[in-house]
Amino acid sequence: MNRNSVVYMHTSLKSKNWVLITGASSGFGEEFARQYAKQGHALVLVARRLDRLQALAETLRQEHRVEVVVEQVDLSDVGAVVRLQERLRERDIAIDVLINNAGYGLQGPFADAPLEASLSMVQLDIASLTAVTHVFAQEMRKRRRGKILLVASLLAHLGVENFAVYSAAKAYVLRLGEALHRELKPDGITVTALSPGLSDTGFAKAAQMSVTPVLRLLMMQPAPVVRAGIRSLNAGHMSVVPGLANKVMAMFIWGTPRWLHQAVFARVMKAQ
Ligand SMILES: NC(=O)c1ccc[n+]([C@@H]2O[C@H](COP(=O)([O-])OP(=O)(O)OC[C@H]3O[C@@H](n4cnc5c(N)ncnc54)[C@H](OP(=O)(O)O)[C@@H]3O)[C@@H](O)[C@H]2O)c1
Repeated sequence: MNRNSVVYMHTSLKSKNWVLITGASSGFGEEFARQYAKQGHALVLVARRLDRLQALAETLRQEHRVEVVVEQVDLSDVGAVVRLQERLRERDIAIDVLINNAGYGLQGPFADAPLEASLSMVQLDIASLTAVTHVFAQEMRKRRRGKILLVASLLAHLGVENFAVYSAAKAYVLRLGEALHRELKPDGITVTALSPGLSDTGFAKAAQMSVTPVLRLLMMQPAPVVRAGIRSLNAGHMSVVPGLANKVMAMFIWGTPRWLHQAVFARVMKAQ
């Protein structure tokens, strides 16, 4: 038996559902890729840093014998999202699971930040996420099956001082997910919103964030966050907050007046 037939046996024995992951070049996205590859899924990895995507793809092909397609796309260009879907269609790749994960935050006073920086964040975290969801939901609806995970944030559950635009953007993601969960259910599509707390990814650096000692203590690793996301998506849940400490914080937010939980969060997240 030659090497190719071994590869063929591996891919044919494992279910070959295509999973598309945005922001797969680091953090949660990279971890989603690792966990889905381990389950034997074929992957489409999307981000801007091609070298990182290619290195990850090669590792996953070797370790798990899965098919991996790399797509270098700047998602802030909505036209590029449409072109991505067209390229995949030409290759007969139909996406079964969409992990809509690419995004970033910026910490700092709203009025001090250049308007351009805030609008770029809104573009990626809101407009591009909406475009990716729309494009692939249409395709899934035709096949009457699919799963979509939207990565929101614990900060989506309240307005956070010095994270005004980011927490508002993630509130949009959370609400979009909740609404689409019901709306797309009759079409056989599951939509789940994942609300992680601060986690050990490239996020804090990209957000130019000062991580306070309390936050460092609460920080989760990407693996359990991603596991919770995949589990909830497979179970068909509307929304999930991963990790016990984050769940406690979410309950604190839901169960207390705004002046109280906003003051506590501002204190915990205060930039040095
Ligand atoms: N880590 C946390 O504490 C935390 C908490 C709550 C929510 N989140 C959310 O989790 C998601 C993933 O972030 P992360 O924590 O994993 O941070 P990360 O390690 O910085 O990953 C962000 C990913 O988004 C991609 N990305 C950024 N801009 C892009 C663009 N214009 N086009 C395409 N891809 C782009 C990046 O890839 P390239 O730079 O290669 O393009 C990277 O792969 C984000 O939506 C974030 O808001 C994170």
